[in-house]
Amino acid sequence: MAEVFAALTTSHVPAMGAAVDLGKTRDEYWRPVFEGYEFAKRWIAETRPDVVILVYNDHATALGLDVIPTFALGCGAEFEPADEGWGRRPVPMVKGDPELAAHIAQSLILDEFDLTLINRMDVDHGLTVPLSMVFGQPEAWPCKVIPLAVNVVQYPPPTGNRCLRLGHALRKAVASYDRDLRVMVWGTGGMSHQLQGPRAGLINSEFDARFMDLLIDAPEDAASIRHVDYLRESGSEGIELVMWLIARGALTPKIRTVRRFYHVPASNTAVGHLILENAI
Ligand code: DHB
Ligand code: FE
Repeated sequence: MAEVFAALTTSHVPAMGAAVDLGKTRDEYWRPVFEGYEFAKRWIAETRPDVVILVYNDHATALGLDVIPTFALGCGAEFEPADEGWGRRPVPMVKGDPELAAHIAQSLILDEFDLTLINRMDVDHGLTVPLSMVFGQPEAWPCKVIPLAVNVVQYPPPTGNRCLRLGHALRKAVASYDRDLRVMVWGTGGMSHQLQGPRAGLINSEFDARFMDLLIDAPEDAASIRHVDYLRESGSEGIELVMWLIARGALTPKIRTVRRFYHVPASNTAVGHLILENAI
């Protein structure tokens, strides 16, 4: 049977992707960030997932204001890196897993999570930057990736509670798949940042540390953080953190923290990164 055995969370700052693509990861500014992901590179080489369900948000790239799905599952066989204005990132094509994605779609929708299904879309920095941070620059991504896009751009995004419950349902969906697959769920985006308006540049390290503590030890409490509190405390883009709750929900209630990393700043953002495994 398939199993979700670990979760990984990470910020997805586009400038980190540019640092990889332009060979700047050892520059003074970037070195502490990329050193913080060396552990993840070793860990992923050892744990070798077959499939990553990558929870991310599209930034009005493939999904503009014409169509705004709250939760959208990528069911296609492949997804091309998007052109976000500077050409497509020089990263491999993302290979999906249509069979597992179809199973997850059926399980989640019958479990009353009314997903949008997407067979064709390009994937933006929200998805490709986490892959680069964890896998570096391979010829091909070493596992299949099922994109799960969450609307955190246009109000109203889903609640943290709904995201945690979706994680629970995702765990159940994977566990009922009749093939031996080792699956990880990644929750991406965050941590505190605001890209616009008078508070642009806002970082709140206390909020970020508290969020990580709650996500690990008291996910129901993390899930009860209201939209307005994300907005006030973690800035207008801090709401991306609800996606971390999907990854957390996909694990067992008791977990092991394998890695915790935090660095300020990268571009306008507080970079946070966790690796969590089920505690058996
Ligand atoms: C930045 C961070 C993001 O999460 C994003 O989507 C775009 C830009 C930044 O810090 O520059
Ligand atoms: Fe973002």
